[in-house]
Amino acid sequence: KRIFAFSIRKDEEPYVKEWAKAHPHIEVGYTDELLSPETAKYAKGADGVVVYQQLSYTADTLQALADQGITKMSLRNVGVDNIDLAKAKELGFEITNVPVYSPNAIAEHAAIQTARILRQTKVLDAKIESGDLRWAPTIGREVRDQTVGVIGTGHIGRVFMQIMEGFGAKVIAFDPFKNPELEKQGYYVDSLDDLYAQADVISLHVPATKENTHMINRNTIAKMKDDVVLVNCSRGALVDTDAVIAALDSGKVFGFVMDTYEDEVGIFNDDWQHKAFPDERLANLIHRSNVLVTPHTAFYTTHAVRNMVLKAFDNNCELINGKPADTPVDISQA
Ligand code: COI
Repeated sequence: KRIFAFSIRKDEEPYVKEWAKAHPHIEVGYTDELLSPETAKYAKGADGVVVYQQLSYTADTLQALADQGITKMSLRNVGVDNIDLAKAKELGFEITNVPVYSPNAIAEHAAIQTARILRQTKVLDAKIESGDLRWAPTIGREVRDQTVGVIGTGHIGRVFMQIMEGFGAKVIAFDPFKNPELEKQGYYVDSLDDLYAQADVISLHVPATKENTHMINRNTIAKMKDDVVLVNCSRGALVDTDAVIAALDSGKVFGFVMDTYEDEVGIFNDDWQHKAFPDERLANLIHRSNVLVTPHTAFYTTHAVRNMVLKAFDNNCELINGKPADTPVDISQA
């Protein structure tokens, strides 16, 4: 049997080789190119494909794989919001993802950036670098004095809650799908409005769905406390960026942690040093002293990347051998 992997980065290559070595009966091929209608032909003869990309898996792309008889696709990441799932269903695809490659990677990043906002480290670092070693005005807010509101209590949200509690914060949470343990322990508030009313820090840890596009918007920000810190290390589409910019301008929002951006596809994970920067709004955010932009790197740790590669190959191996995969993506409702 043969598995072909698309868009394998240099940092993933050792793990692809590690998996191939441990599975000598499977032929493994790969490319650093993204999967598209044009590149799908590289997978010719393969029984399944292993993929990761932020670029959409469009109907054309899926069709190009299906035309070669390939319908078993294993994602190296968790999110499935960039896949034409209705088309995948129509073509009889079987898809797997890696839902839990390292919740700590994302949760730690969110926690570190939250702490940086509270201590105003971006301003402080710049001051120090320019020779200004005065204390004021960069006075910090202690984490233990914050009520941290966590939206989404899946694997990532729960690790984030633990880290924040380790710092002494009061943690509250909202999730329509309640975790029984957390419910017993009394973490949940009854509604998002309750969370907005109580939280000094609000961190998003939910997948992007049709229903939650721009859930952080002018109306919901108006319900939040003054000087709230907003943290988005989940999906750009959840946040109405213009609304946050308005709230940063008015001073309502104290700081914004932004690892994902609604227009990030084609911008993040590219080098703009020697070409015109493509997005003025993003440039504006990057240059603000109370906004911490990272280019969707919360997940990007050695631990996470190794698990993403190894688990995706394991999943694909199960699919191509007709076994039930550990972590199938349910496309029956698509
Ligand atoms: C995901 O796993 O869905 C992510 O958002 C991380 C991705 C950039 C590899």
